[in-house]
Amino acid sequence: MNNWQIVTTASYVPQMTVSNDRLSTIMDTSDEWIRTRTGIRQRHISQGENTADLATQVGQRLLAKAHWAPTSLDLIIIATMSPDSYTPSTAAIVQGLLGATAARAFDVSAACSGFVYALDIASRFIGSECHRVMVIGSEVLSKITNWQDRTTAVLFGDGAGGVLIETDPEPHLLGQHLATFGDRGNQLVAGQTRVNHQFPPTITDVSPFQMNGRAVYRFATHAVPISIQTALQNAGLTADQVDRFILHQANIRIIQQVARRLVQPMTKFPTNIDQYGNTSAASEPILLDECVRQGLIRRGDLVVLSGFGGGLTVGTMIIKY
Ligand code: ACO
Repeated sequence: MNNWQIVTTASYVPQMTVSNDRLSTIMDTSDEWIRTRTGIRQRHISQGENTADLATQVGQRLLAKAHWAPTSLDLIIIATMSPDSYTPSTAAIVQGLLGATAARAFDVSAACSGFVYALDIASRFIGSECHRVMVIGSEVLSKITNWQDRTTAVLFGDGAGGVLIETDPEPHLLGQHLATFGDRGNQLVAGQTRVNHQFPPTITDVSPFQMNGRAVYRFATHAVPISIQTALQNAGLTADQVDRFILHQANIRIIQQVARRLVQPMTKFPTNIDQYGNTSAASEPILLDECVRQGLIRRGDLVVLSGFGGGLTVGTMIIKY
């Protein structure tokens, strides 16, 4: 693997916010239940913008911040579990909209671990043929949410975030760990399609989220600390040396539990789940961008990126920002 550096970060969320109180007018829930069980106060919900639209906004912001021409990009990878279509990929649509004519482009599907999985793939591409890479996590989860199901509808939100990375003489990726547990995939399912027995087959609707929340909660609180510890060991580092832990924003209680297991203070775990809910592959790059803009992450800081979710999947990267 060749060395690379994150050049810049950016994010974009749809304008409309939906509060817990507003949700409680359309389903049997309450602000109190959602806040105390998850830490979520509101989420941003798209009004007509699709996954590629959000990603394109992020892509334009990234290119403007780095002063890069779209044509200088060699590769675009988009992590998403809510693509606009089976084909073209969201990344191909974004490549076209940005005018990044020299970039190859494809999507990565690893649910809430998607951003770390996409960065891992980018790391393996970067080198002699690829010097400038755009990696974005983008989701419009509201289109695959069952708005009658209070056990999932209150959790998710829409948004996108991303990074530009470029070859660099110094190593910035210090360690990593990725794992998949496909035998437990039925604990979190969305967009399931079925094959009919008849000919011609009838087209079935795409199924919305179904989740065994307690099982995913147990998985996350067990698998994430192990993944982080393994990645730290690979890097020859300890949790004490880490400046910031950017965890997937699924539930504040999961983040608190991971902090306890790693024996680290919550001050090292910035959160924004109260504002955005769970935005799956977009949650880590949105939080990373906010932390960089607020000065919570500075050049040279040791940052852990860790995601978990559908698959089931988990993925961690240790980065010197
Ligand atoms: N409002 C009010 N009551 C509710 C709601 C709601 N929105 N949802 C569920 N309840 C009720 C249940 O019906 C249940 O009632 P009962 O006791 O009468 O049966 C009660 O609240 C408790 O339900 P639980 O499911 O046990 O609640 P829990 O404390 O486990 O919290 C939650 C549920 C928030 C989903 C939690 O399990 C969780 O965060 N799980 C992890 C989810 C996750 O991390 N997903 C990440 C991956 S996402 C991805 O990859 C896309």
